[in-house]
Amino acid sequence: MNRDPENSFKWGVSTAAYQIEGAHDIDGKGPSIWDTFANKKRKIHRNQNGNIACDHYNRYQEDIDLIRDLNIPNYRFSISWSRIFPEGVGPINMKGIHYYHRLIDYCLKNGIEPWITLYHWDLPDALEKKGGWTNRDILIWFEEFVSFCIKTFGDKVKHWMVLNEPLVFTGAGYFLGVHAPGKKGLSNFLAASHHAALCQAHGGRIIKSIKSDLKVGTTFSYSPIEPFNPENSKDLKATKKANALVNRLFIEPLLGLGYPVNDFKILTRIEKFVKANDEKDLKFEMDFIGLQNYTRELVKYSPFVPILNLKVVKASKRKVEKTLMNWEVHPPSIYQSLMELGKYSGVSEIIITENGAAFSDSFSNGKIKDEKRVIYLKEYIEQVLKAKNDGVNVGGYFVWTLLDNFEWAEGYHPTFGLVNVDFESQKRTIKDSGYWYSEFIRNHARKE
Ligand code: GAL
Repeated sequence: MNRDPENSFKWGVSTAAYQIEGAHDIDGKGPSIWDTFANKKRKIHRNQNGNIACDHYNRYQEDIDLIRDLNIPNYRFSISWSRIFPEGVGPINMKGIHYYHRLIDYCLKNGIEPWITLYHWDLPDALEKKGGWTNRDILIWFEEFVSFCIKTFGDKVKHWMVLNEPLVFTGAGYFLGVHAPGKKGLSNFLAASHHAALCQAHGGRIIKSIKSDLKVGTTFSYSPIEPFNPENSKDLKATKKANALVNRLFIEPLLGLGYPVNDFKILTRIEKFVKANDEKDLKFEMDFIGLQNYTRELVKYSPFVPILNLKVVKASKRKVEKTLMNWEVHPPSIYQSLMELGKYSGVSEIIITENGAAFSDSFSNGKIKDEKRVIYLKEYIEQVLKAKNDGVNVGGYFVWTLLDNFEWAEGYHPTFGLVNVDFESQKRTIKDSGYWYSEFIRNHARKE
């Protein structure tokens, strides 16, 4: 397979270290917050964890072979920080570095372009012991990690993403306590959010200062928010608040627009953590924005939910088609997300760095006929190409995800993969959706 020409539309597939690598304490890797959190009782569905996951650490060649055989030209994965710096900062672990060299080299040898996410939620546990994202020193720790990765892998890897979905790791991890490290409360959340917003810009600056020719982006979760009852003024106000929190909190400071405090007053409390010069340091011009969309959200005013005073009306309560995550299947949501994000003048290019669906799969005659996933991908991709036609500068699309894997607090139950994994034997089986995506890319490339 020949490498993708630089200006072609980037078709790809995404994964994240903790969800697939396993080898959690092998070859000198230090524990991350996810190792610690997932090994506590009653945090994860059926008390599952990522100790072994897809054993990708040992099977990466087989998995890259699958990507090559499926004709997918771009592969997005993340680096486990504590595999390189077992204590977060300081001494490095050569075996971890060699692993990522082998992985990158094997991608390149097979004509697959590696795209690396620097932080996909697995903070070294040693740093969490010092307060993790709530401690402003994270800026110094993160700088050490980012500089090292760029100096070490920057000659081989052209595309870098600084953070994966800051709202999700600060919201679920430091506000609701349902993801690692399991902290709760507004103050933890706002401190973590401000430091993450600084790190996303800071990370971009560090990468460019070391190698100015690299393509730098960062990723955001994005779900169009609609009022449950458009006639109800309280629902309308709740929608604005939810939109400020869910979709605008991290991108607007990056674009130099500040935090969206006008539409959600409680966010002004973030000022407690803001220091002189921060406003300018929050800003950075990314080469691309990674947009991750799965669904839309319907929001309702609710006086019973503390702090937020609003709630999301789950898909299961709305008689709509839904995935195993209880997320509504709604293809226009990706079009709308692209249109909304594309309107910001500071956004130059958008790449869909994640989109996909969890459905239960079953074997029939040795095959997995996952028709629902095929239809989901087909219809969402149609909407992406429609937005492109309508003038949004969208340059690529990555399916979440290659392999059925450890889906955070949901454990192994929701299966998103193009490839099924039997976790007993670690046998991989390509699903119909994998074959479909492969064929789709081939046909699309012919037309380009
Ligand atoms: C994203 C996350 C991925 C994956 C996906 C499906 O929020 O970046 O790691 O879990 O959702 O839920």
